[in-house]
Amino acid sequence: MRNLLFFIALVLPALAMSQSKSDGKYDAFILTPEPPLTPRITGPVVFGLRPGSPLIFRIPCTGERPIKFTARNMPEGIFLDEDNGILSGVVNKPGSYSLTLTASNKQGSVSRKFTLEVGDKLALTPPMGWNSWYIHYNRISDKTMREAADQMIASGMADYGYQYVNIDDCWMMKLKSKDPDLNGKRRDSQGRIIPNKRFPDMKGMADYIHSKGLKAGLYISPGRYTCAGYEGSYKHEALDAKTFADWGYDFLKYDWCSYGKVAGKKSDPDYYIRPYRLMWNELKMQDRDIVLNLCQYGMGNVWEWGGEVGNCWRTTGDLGLAHRNNLPGFYSIGFSNAGHAEYAQPGAWNDPDYILIGWVGNANKMAEGKPTDLTPWEQYSYMSMWSLMAAPLIFSGDMAKLDKFTLNVLCNHEVIDVNQDPLGKQAILQEKTDQKFVMVKPMIDGSLAVGIFNTGNEIQKMNISWKDLGIKGEKQVRDLWRQKDLGKYTKDFSTEVQAHGVSLIRIY
Ligand code: GAL
Repeated sequence: MRNLLFFIALVLPALAMSQSKSDGKYDAFILTPEPPLTPRITGPVVFGLRPGSPLIFRIPCTGERPIKFTARNMPEGIFLDEDNGILSGVVNKPGSYSLTLTASNKQGSVSRKFTLEVGDKLALTPPMGWNSWYIHYNRISDKTMREAADQMIASGMADYGYQYVNIDDCWMMKLKSKDPDLNGKRRDSQGRIIPNKRFPDMKGMADYIHSKGLKAGLYISPGRYTCAGYEGSYKHEALDAKTFADWGYDFLKYDWCSYGKVAGKKSDPDYYIRPYRLMWNELKMQDRDIVLNLCQYGMGNVWEWGGEVGNCWRTTGDLGLAHRNNLPGFYSIGFSNAGHAEYAQPGAWNDPDYILIGWVGNANKMAEGKPTDLTPWEQYSYMSMWSLMAAPLIFSGDMAKLDKFTLNVLCNHEVIDVNQDPLGKQAILQEKTDQKFVMVKPMIDGSLAVGIFNTGNEIQKMNISWKDLGIKGEKQVRDLWRQKDLGKYTKDFSTEVQAHGVSLIRIY
């Protein structure tokens, strides 16, 4: 027995470190327990929408299908599709509506409170979903987007709260393109943007995504052209906002790109904020809710003002697949994102870029995807950091090639609860030394979510003291990846942490 435990604890992880490339077959490293057959409602416990805007919300729920959904205290105007668990409709009266959702199947039944905050704030918890960029680049099409929506349901990701299906760059016409699909009039005689030929029906595509209970997102630049050289919104902002709303989109990534050419003088105090304020105001005038994601790589200390004109803002350049300082790039991007913790709050999030695991491509070359180079423990560290930092959880690998290990990283409801906690605090980087760092996130129930990370190349015994965490007395400690109580501790907690790995715990 001891030998077996030794093998599981030490040898397996070491083997993982020694393999340079993942072949998507890391089943032996899966930590997330299988969900029970009985229903379990997961994902956010609060959702914000504006009065008069259409709601579409698929209740994330695991368990054996078919599941029957019911809801108590639904506000007037909201309906529930009891077979698919999709809430839809419109609430006209602002207010905080506390519903009780129930999911039942032949194994049992579960209920959970869920609040609809009908007011002026969107994205009360970090957006969760998928984005096309790091796998499809300029190869993206209507067909691939619809398939991604299908896969969000079929893979089970939607049962954990993933809900945005977002197209990135390259859906518009492209200036000077020789490709007949991309070459054509970029706007019609009224100035309305014309999608390229791979997107014959932008509204139909959004409708299709909505028919699954999911939300649709798209991308454009405030400049004349996007980063990949496609049509931008410059001087068409009002019409574009209206077009996106008419088509039924729920999320807009607004990427600076060529805007520098038309932005004016850097000495202008509004230099950075202007294009975002303009689009934010246009979006607010639409009759549907569109979450605004600022993408301008952290310029002008965007974290200080991003919350005035958007729901989340990229804090750094593109994450990509490159390593930095001998470590996978997500560490340094994460550290720099961690410095802006004080600015995160419900409706306004720091965005350190996407979750790049599974099958992903290299952005510089717009390359075809291949299995991630990250070891299993690096992937746990990545997802743990993003969850602790209340970052948008947007996967950008291949939805068609999701393997069991990748899904175990993306879909652990206790880890996601850390990310989606309604208090909306971002973890602070509490301690950072050469080979260790600790992130601490206060949760709404008074508990602390704590990540103890090992950036060294060997397994290490690591410790955190209650004194450093500012807590006292006997506490229950739970291992979130394994979903297992570890027992009671009174002064501190010690554990072995794998090379480039993490111990993600919750202290009650
Ligand atoms: C970059 C952006 C990426 C991707 C790309 C598209 O500026 O940071 O996330 O959207 O443009 O061209």
